[in-house]
Amino acid sequence: MATDKNEILLKVNQVYNPPRHVVAGAYIQPEEYESLYEESIQDPERFWARIAEDELYWFQRWDKVRAGEHPNYQWFVNGKLNITYNCLDRHIKSGRRNQLAYICTNEDGDEVKVTYGELLDKVCRLANGLKALGVKKGDRVAIYMPQIIEQVVAMLACARIGALHSVVFGGFSASALRMRIKEARAKVVITATWTKRRGKKINYKMNVDEAVEDLPFVEKVIVAQREGDDYELVEKEIDFHELLQRHSPCCDAEVMDAEDPLFILYTSGTTGKPKGVLHTIGGYNLFTHYTTKIVFDLHENDIYWCTADPGWITGHSYLVYGPLSVGVTSVLFEGAPDFPNPGVWWSIIDRYRVNVFYSAPTAIRLFMKYGETWPQKYDLSSLRILGSVGEPLNPEAWLWFYEHIGSKNCALVDTWWQTETGGHMVTTIPSYRAKPGKAGKPFFGVVADVVDRAGCSVEPNTVGNLVIKEPWPSGLRTCWNEPERYEKYWNTIAPYYLAGDLATKDEDGYIMILGRADDVLTVSGHRIGTAEVESALVSHPAVAEAAVIGKPHELKGESIKGFLIIKEGQNNSEKLITDIKLHVRRELGSLAVPDELEIVDSLPKTRSGKIMRRVLKAQELGMDIGDISTLED
Ligand code: WT7
Repeated sequence: MATDKNEILLKVNQVYNPPRHVVAGAYIQPEEYESLYEESIQDPERFWARIAEDELYWFQRWDKVRAGEHPNYQWFVNGKLNITYNCLDRHIKSGRRNQLAYICTNEDGDEVKVTYGELLDKVCRLANGLKALGVKKGDRVAIYMPQIIEQVVAMLACARIGALHSVVFGGFSASALRMRIKEARAKVVITATWTKRRGKKINYKMNVDEAVEDLPFVEKVIVAQREGDDYELVEKEIDFHELLQRHSPCCDAEVMDAEDPLFILYTSGTTGKPKGVLHTIGGYNLFTHYTTKIVFDLHENDIYWCTADPGWITGHSYLVYGPLSVGVTSVLFEGAPDFPNPGVWWSIIDRYRVNVFYSAPTAIRLFMKYGETWPQKYDLSSLRILGSVGEPLNPEAWLWFYEHIGSKNCALVDTWWQTETGGHMVTTIPSYRAKPGKAGKPFFGVVADVVDRAGCSVEPNTVGNLVIKEPWPSGLRTCWNEPERYEKYWNTIAPYYLAGDLATKDEDGYIMILGRADDVLTVSGHRIGTAEVESALVSHPAVAEAAVIGKPHELKGESIKGFLIIKEGQNNSEKLITDIKLHVRRELGSLAVPDELEIVDSLPKTRSGKIMRRVLKAQELGMDIGDISTLED
């Protein structure tokens, strides 16, 4: 045991100095980090005011940078702006109309290039179209689309007129989509007919049909038909591209208050019901802009590729709003990482001379498995910065990424953050020395610490809870319809923001994230609540009780295993197991389907009737069961 731990500590204490060329061109030099960080936390209002002034365009200046009573803060009080103005108009006004905003490609190698000017044109047309359909400031619009430019246009069109978007990842099922549409009472749903993944068409429109059935408040469904489609629209439905054609490309950006809501995005928590995380405009625009610029050290002519789907927060912040606000060119890829072959991503980096590449540990581990001969076929020398997000990047994967993708000539940033935080919270900036396996240092203005349950900082290299001690501009403002769930983040280890992750901090202040402390799983970088999966399982007619755990998985980080008690008279058969898995897929979507289901006679419970998942987990992994004095049986 002792040697294992020492070995791990040794491994994660290696220090990697970023290559000289990265440091040379960086906005922030390594020796500036500490003093700038100090400045940012000593006087956050002054710090953020300066960035807000230097980096963004405001229709009206704010009266106060931060106000409000803990934990309900407002940022840039009475400041007026529109995030789409910062993302589009501003660049066009400065003569960059013809700069590319997106290079869209897919598994067939098709290519569509969209300039900032063209993007603004499309966004305004759709914004006018939405207005004509009666969508007003404050209304909600649900978006359920694949990774295509129309999805970006849909998000920005909402923001242009002050409507809130609620994007639902395309991997979610019709019933998960329906729940999100209902919760937000979306007036309009925007979708596309299908996506293609691994050569197969996946239908989106069908899920939407099912999701909006008998929801009278959904007034219109806007459908983006794709090449080769000749779909006949029925009642309530409107053609996306026709709508764009019909409406004018001029639509002034609505003047929004800094604290007006921008979007809702649902994320899993510890209960069966996902929470609708609400972000507001000013702080979010500022923080995503600044982190995009500094953490990826992006300069105007950089080609940047974030592989996330816009349906997740990474897509919102670092594929749409952040990079557009900074004004770079992004790659938008619709497809799987290994189709038509495991070299497809590297071929894209080669073809478009990508400089900054942001992806996830689950993908990196997949590529490790395929081996380095795939990246070796391509010229990846354009790369300067590599980024990772979603789950811990283990030292082996860090080193592989660094060596075989980055040719030991790139900086690597492991960015820890959450849907709730809006943007990067813990990460070393590219010019700063990194330690493989550790996300590293807090970003400017972020006061991160590792504490025990009483809120006291733990000793170096001791496991504790990751907390954020001071508010930051892009924190969630509330949970849609459920303000009490917002309070929970702040009153569990009061007065700090509790992230829900376990972590350690070393002598140099580097934070290492160990994984979730609560009943939330991270499967292929997707956050899934055990309670969500359990409630999907027990909604199957044959299932009486269910408990779900995460098991370490080589590629996915965690895989889901469910333990089931089946109802009397039900037969434990392979067919039943398949049927239950299909049921979970229908209820939640493919991302939540357990890899394993085991039928058991009983589940370990406390005397008060709570399922002790940690006992199941320890048994499953052959570990010490620990304290079971509260166990009923
Ligand atoms: C959870 C948040 C933020 C975008 C993607 C996920 C885990 C995220 C890291 C990282 C270790 C990470 C945490 C966190 N996580 N980034 N760099 N190292 N863990 O967003 O769905 O809101 O999930 O993802 O467990 O709490 P999300």
